[in-house]
Amino acid sequence: MSQNSKVKGKISWQSPSNIALIKYWGKHGNQLPCNPSLSMSLKLSVTTTSLSYNYKEKGKNVDLEFLFNGKRSKQFEKRVGNYLNNLLKEYPYLVDYHLIIDSSNNFPHSSGIASSASAFSALALCIMSLKEICLGDIDRKEFFQEASNLARLGSGSASRSVYGGYTIWGKVEGSTHYSDDYASLLKSTIHPVFQTFYDAILIVSGENKKVGSSAGHSLMEKHPFAKSRYQQAMNHTIEMIDVLETGDMDRFIEIIENEALTLHGLMMSSDPGYILIKSETIEIIERIRNFRQTQKIPITFTLDAGPNVHVLYPESYRKEVIKFIEDELVVLCNAGQWINDSTGKGPKLLNIQ
Ligand code: DP6
Repeated sequence: MSQNSKVKGKISWQSPSNIALIKYWGKHGNQLPCNPSLSMSLKLSVTTTSLSYNYKEKGKNVDLEFLFNGKRSKQFEKRVGNYLNNLLKEYPYLVDYHLIIDSSNNFPHSSGIASSASAFSALALCIMSLKEICLGDIDRKEFFQEASNLARLGSGSASRSVYGGYTIWGKVEGSTHYSDDYASLLKSTIHPVFQTFYDAILIVSGENKKVGSSAGHSLMEKHPFAKSRYQQAMNHTIEMIDVLETGDMDRFIEIIENEALTLHGLMMSSDPGYILIKSETIEIIERIRNFRQTQKIPITFTLDAGPNVHVLYPESYRKEVIKFIEDELVVLCNAGQWINDSTGKGPKLLNIQ
């Protein structure tokens, strides 16, 4: 136990989920991405995690109890336990304590909302706060960079959730600013139309995914289209940085939809191929495209690794889009569920003692 350490205490962070506009699909080595991804952090879809620590005799492995939504979860305890044990070289003080991690989401688990993103981001931030308690203050920029790196080791998309607004994870051709090890805030300025953008998440199904993201990423290793996909994602990222700065809505819509359909196209053309979208997903997409064309309202969609549809639209069309969702799309949602989310400001430290 180091000099600064406290005997016991509790740290709580709230961290958002994020929606990828340019998708991370394919990884190598220790959780490194095969292409850059770009995402928007959400405001309402969040995980709250508290880490309670109580000093004990040093052990060999992390001593952990994990609660998910208030109940002990052996499944998560194993995954998070492995994750923390793999960090011991860099964070040896994790074995100085009995740890209780209590994590809860305010959205359905396995609903296609990336819960691993907000969960590992919140957990990584708790670990960083514990590091400060044990070793002293860390410069803010370094704190979040290291948190992003730690979050990435738990789940790739989590690296992007330690910031608000728009974030890039992965090296971008022609720039030295972005890294494969951690995500960074978009360096360029964001056009006002994209500063507050809406993401209505339509829950088509709350069932567990048939093929999880990790299995999906591995199928990219032998995917016949992998090389061209990685180059396409690189080109899309470079273009999207420009689009977010200039506010070019037409090109935004083209890239967003292409990314969403490419992601699911890659799943379908994997070996073995699989399908995560449902008939309602396709019907919603068709209704969105039709509404855009007839009403001349710039709404678009993206998909995560699941059947749910993320409807993206500018703040100025809020009224019209909500009416459209309520009138035409809610009937296609599971139990009429949808979340009217929007651009968030990033994680919050709720408590430290
Ligand atoms: C389709 O981050 O869940 O949501 O690193 O194996 O935990 P792991 O994968 P994960 O993959 C997310 C893939 C995606 C696209 C994205 O968020 O970029």
